[in-house]
Amino acid sequence: MQNLKGVKILGTGSFIPEKVITNADIEKLVDTSDEWITQRTGIRERRVVEKGTSTSDIAVEASRKAIDEAGINPQEIDLIIVATCTPDMFFPSTACFVQKKLGIKSNPACFDISAACSGFIYALGIAKGMLESGMHKTALVIGAETLSNVTNWKDRGTCILFGDGAGAMPLKATDDKSGILSITMSANAAYTDILEIPAGGSTHPASVETVQQGLHFIRMDGKEVFKHAVMNMLKATKKALEMSGKKIEEMALLIPHQANMRIIEALGERLTIPKERIFVNLHKYGNLSAATTIVALDEAKKQGLVKTGDLVELVAFGAGLTWGAAVIQL
Ligand code: UT7
Repeated sequence: MQNLKGVKILGTGSFIPEKVITNADIEKLVDTSDEWITQRTGIRERRVVEKGTSTSDIAVEASRKAIDEAGINPQEIDLIIVATCTPDMFFPSTACFVQKKLGIKSNPACFDISAACSGFIYALGIAKGMLESGMHKTALVIGAETLSNVTNWKDRGTCILFGDGAGAMPLKATDDKSGILSITMSANAAYTDILEIPAGGSTHPASVETVQQGLHFIRMDGKEVFKHAVMNMLKATKKALEMSGKKIEEMALLIPHQANMRIIEALGERLTIPKERIFVNLHKYGNLSAATTIVALDEAKKQGLVKTGDLVELVAFGAGLTWGAAVIQL
C-alpha cells in the first residue's frame, strides 16, 4: 500500500428528473401560495421522479455522465460511495445497486453513508482518506436522493422544500496535492429531533400505526433548523478555508447547500463574498439534500461559471445536525 499525497477530481455528472412540480401545483395540495413560497424560500419549482424510479436509477444516470467526462473505464473503479437519506432499501446498499446497474464486474467496495444534506461532503471526506491512504485508487462518489418518496404532500411546512436529483464525481489518488485541498465534517447531536424521518428503523419499526401517523415522512421544525444553518455553515466554510490555506477571495465560486435563499444570503453577507460568486439553483430544484452540492457544481461547470484550475468551496448542512465544507481545485 503506497501513501499518496492527493486526490484528483476526474469529472462530474448530474441528473435531474423531467417531471416538474411548480408552486402553483403545490397550491392545489396544501394551504399555501406561490408568493409565500417564493418570498420565504426562493423556490419556484422542484423536480420529482416517476413512480417506480429508485435512487440508484438516477445515481446511475449521473454516474454515466461523470464517468464519460472523466474518460475512465468503469472497471477501474474500486470504491463506490453513495451519500443518501433515501436509499433503495436498508440493505443491500444503494452503492451495490449502482455497481450492478453500471455493469462493474471488478468488485469495488460499495457502501452508503448517512449524513443527510451534508452527505456529499462526508462521502468526499471518506473517499479522500481512503484514496490518500493507498487503500483504494479510483473512487466514484455520489450524492443521490428521491426525497419525493419521503415527503408528506399534506404538510405545507416541508412539501414545498424538497426535490429529487443526483450527482457523481469520479476521483483518483495522485502524487500531487491539487484536487481536494481540505475537508471538514462536524455534527451536533443535541438536535437529532428537529429534522428527522422518525419511523422505519429500529426505534419505530414499520407498522400499521407508524404508517397511519405519517411517521415515514420528513418532519422538521423549520424555524429551529434555520437558526443553526447559517451559523454552522459559516463555521465550516471558514474552517475548510483555513485548513486549505486559501482565502474566500480566492474562491471562483462558493456552492452552498440549497435549502433556503434567506440562508444563502445570510451566509454570503457574513462571508463578504459578492453575490455573483455564490451559486444558486434552488429556484429550479429546491433542496436535493445529499445531491445538492454535487449537482450544483456540475451545473456551474456546464454553465461555464468555473473551469479547470479554479478554486471552489462546497458547504452543506443538514439533519443530525451535521455540517461540512470542502475546498477543491477543479
Ligand atoms: O436541508 C436541511 C436544512 N433545512 C433547512 O435549512 C430549512 C430551514 N427552514 C426554513 O427554510 C424555513 O424555516 C421554512 C421555509 C421551512 C419556514 O419558513 P419560516 O419563515 O421559518 O416560517 P415559520 O415556520 O416561522 O412559519 C411562519 C408562518 C406560520 O404561520 P403563523 O403561525 O405565523 O400563523 C406558518 O404556519 O407561516 C406559516 N407557514 C406557511 N404559510 C404558507 C408555514 N409554511 C407555510 C407555507 N405556506 N408553505
